[in-house]
Amino acid sequence: MTAAAKAARSPEKTILRALAGEAQPTPPIWMMRQAGRYLPEYRATRAQAGDFLSLCYNPELAAEVTLQPIRRYGFDAAILFADILLVPQALGADLWFVTGEGPRLSTITDQAGVDALKPADAIHDTLAPVYETVKILARELPSETTLIGFAGAPWTVATYMIAGRGTPDQAPAHALREGAPEVFDALMDRITVATIDYLSMQIDAGAEVVKLFDSWAGSLRGEAFQRYALQPARTIIAALKARHPGVPVIAFPREAGDGYIGFARATGADCVAIDNSVTPEWAAEHVQVDGCVQGNLASSHMVTGGQALVEATERVVRAFRNGPHIFNLGHGITPDADPENVALMIETVRNFRA
Ligand code: CP3
Repeated sequence: MTAAAKAARSPEKTILRALAGEAQPTPPIWMMRQAGRYLPEYRATRAQAGDFLSLCYNPELAAEVTLQPIRRYGFDAAILFADILLVPQALGADLWFVTGEGPRLSTITDQAGVDALKPADAIHDTLAPVYETVKILARELPSETTLIGFAGAPWTVATYMIAGRGTPDQAPAHALREGAPEVFDALMDRITVATIDYLSMQIDAGAEVVKLFDSWAGSLRGEAFQRYALQPARTIIAALKARHPGVPVIAFPREAGDGYIGFARATGADCVAIDNSVTPEWAAEHVQVDGCVQGNLASSHMVTGGQALVEATERVVRAFRNGPHIFNLGHGITPDADPENVALMIETVRNFRA
């Protein structure tokens, strides 16, 4: 079934209509990291689970935190609660989170490290609870809410697997791709194949849309962007479209700048998510011409609020109103955000009149 045919069957699903190319008077809305530490109910459930990874692998509790922002705000989409780093863990990397600092992983620096990874078809042992979470959500979500699955894009996942942690400039990954390209390419291939299988299983379990997060795409330029951001996205999307025709894919090559231009056409993505390093007017002119875009309010407004939030929200809606658009932030909401500001953003989007 094509996305358009599916949308026609479920006209209440505004996200699917946007992804099928329809401009709507009120754009559908959800928010990156909408289940997270800015919500007291999230913090309570995480405490119940023990820690972040235990929460990711507990289907009942992971479904519960996915549903919390839907209950509180009535977002048009729910994003599966999980993490992009579960794939490296399923491939055999050690993974843990240091409170207040972020993720830590065992590092991959040579071919022996790549060879020691598990084959792609072995990832499902570890990831089975995630598919179970998707199944629960497919059952429990309100009929008008779209369920989004996701994975990290190969470059972003590789940056963590190589450095063993988040890095401001992804220097260890750049050093490996320049110093030992055959090792780097072998790692990228492993991640690519696993990501296709992982997203495919999420779709089989009930995800209606999938999103590919390339959070560090912005540190790739020119030829390197084509090779390590665009090409893997194209490979993954082509494989998913072959297995699941009609399931829309959102690509997020964050901070791609000019790289956003033509990205949907080149990769087959149904929608490109835009960060806030570009203006919505620029993105409407250069990216939305090719189809649906998602974004791009600065997440700092969720901390600061007030009239500036209202004006910036209206500016985003106005800039994208003549084409298909899913309202979102330019990056994830931060733990210091005020839940009241989220409510104000949603109210502003839904009350906007041109
Ligand atoms: O958007 C959602 O609500 C769905 C769940 C989701 C999480 N992580 C939960 C999470 C999604 C889609 C992600 C994606 C993710 N994870 C990305 C790509 C998007 C982006 O933000 O750039 C990346 C790079 C990661 C890796 C990761 N996970 C880092 C660097 C961190 C630590 C930083 C932080 O915010 O604490 C995490 C932890 C994480 N993932 C949390 C959540 C809710 C916070 C964990 C906690 O509760 O302590």
